[in-house]
Amino acid sequence: MKHSNIFPRHSNYDLPIAVRGDGCYIIDDNGKKYIDGSGGAAVSCLGHSDNTIKDATINQIEKLAYAHTSFFSNEPAEKLANLLAESSPSGLDKIYLVSSGSEAVEASLKLAKQYFIEVGKPKKHQVISRRQSYHGNTLGALASGGNIWRRNFFEDLLIETSLISPCYAYRNRRPDETDWDYGQRVAKELEDEILNLGEDNVMAFIAETVVGATAGALTAVPGYFKLIREICNKYDVLLILDEVMCGMGRTGSLFACDDEQVIPDIITIAKGLGAGYQPIGAMICQNYIYEAIQNGTGFFQHGHTYLSHPVACAASYAVLSKLIKDNYPPKVKEKGNLLQKSLIKSLGQNQYIGDIRGRGLFRAVELVADRSTKAPFPKNFNVAGKIKKKAMEEGLICYPMQGTVDGENGDHILIAPPFIINETEINEISEKLKITVDSVCNF
Ligand SMILES: Cc1ncc(COP(=O)(O)O)c(C=O)c1O
Repeated sequence: MKHSNIFPRHSNYDLPIAVRGDGCYIIDDNGKKYIDGSGGAAVSCLGHSDNTIKDATINQIEKLAYAHTSFFSNEPAEKLANLLAESSPSGLDKIYLVSSGSEAVEASLKLAKQYFIEVGKPKKHQVISRRQSYHGNTLGALASGGNIWRRNFFEDLLIETSLISPCYAYRNRRPDETDWDYGQRVAKELEDEILNLGEDNVMAFIAETVVGATAGALTAVPGYFKLIREICNKYDVLLILDEVMCGMGRTGSLFACDDEQVIPDIITIAKGLGAGYQPIGAMICQNYIYEAIQNGTGFFQHGHTYLSHPVACAASYAVLSKLIKDNYPPKVKEKGNLLQKSLIKSLGQNQYIGDIRGRGLFRAVELVADRSTKAPFPKNFNVAGKIKKKAMEEGLICYPMQGTVDGENGDHILIAPPFIINETEINEISEKLKITVDSVCNF
């Protein structure tokens, strides 16, 4: 191991040093090029060398680097909030600008709690979420997620939350059910859990509109989110949709919930919002929630030093303007279809590929030991870990994860390339992935 003073994610690997970005590629200090097939963790939607975003960032630093939000608002934050409000689903007009996805989720939970205090329902505090989900690594967000291995060490620090089933048709739809019936069955689990906890106690249901890293680009079946919305309305439970990974055009709509025809009470975004040029996230809430605070206590009992950071907001405003002006969402849908075809062509015949799925440029390949039974590989095979290592050797950045099925077992590979990708680069990802999977799954 090389000496480094960085406290790394893993102590047993030497990582290459990234020195330069060029379009869809990252180049390390040995000059090796890696195609960024996952945008890191679905972050780099505009690639790594966009001059418009770089210029917007530099211009803002030259004008004003920082002004604390208890003293000032600032121009880029105001512009970004206006544009987000204009582009978001109806009524989602109040924008709370933070620095990460976890911060956006924490803010959404605290806002939900404070909202119910303001409207005279102070008992409401329980959060319901789904197994096989992830909402961030800070304690509130971690407690709200159903990602077992991320939670394990910290269980006794986490607030009590309830978990219902994910909407995971590939594994859990019964042979005698249509997709629709399956979706209605799992959505009804929410109603059962609200009644079990007592409707006076339940404050929010949180879900990723399209599940990202934990289950691998998992889209809900038609009708599922509509019923979830109805159940939340019936019991006065806030619907929080976490679009930190799947939002900002990633699935081919600016907000993934547009495709579900469902409007949440609160939405969280990050990752693609700054496209990797700056760390930024946002919690967006319905006007009526904000008005309850405005007409009640008058302030949200929350805050961070870097709220509405001017440089992050300037970069993000440039990103969002570009996504809208250059009409990226439909292009992402088209390129996503090309990516799906290309993945099917190179991996569809492989006996260890169980499912290739997703929406837009948010795709995943689920690996199985046996296609007919869908049995996952034994955990100790560490298939995901080996794929990540081999892919890097091949010059491919992808996002493999273990625990797809139940938090422990199962493996998938998330593919979420930059929106600027072209067909040749799409095929490069699929071909490198084929070489990687063939080499690792050589049993
Ligand atoms: C759906 C979802 N929510 C929240 C988060 C947390 O975001 P961050 O890592 O920026 O704190 C992530 C990160 O992967 C995510 O995928």
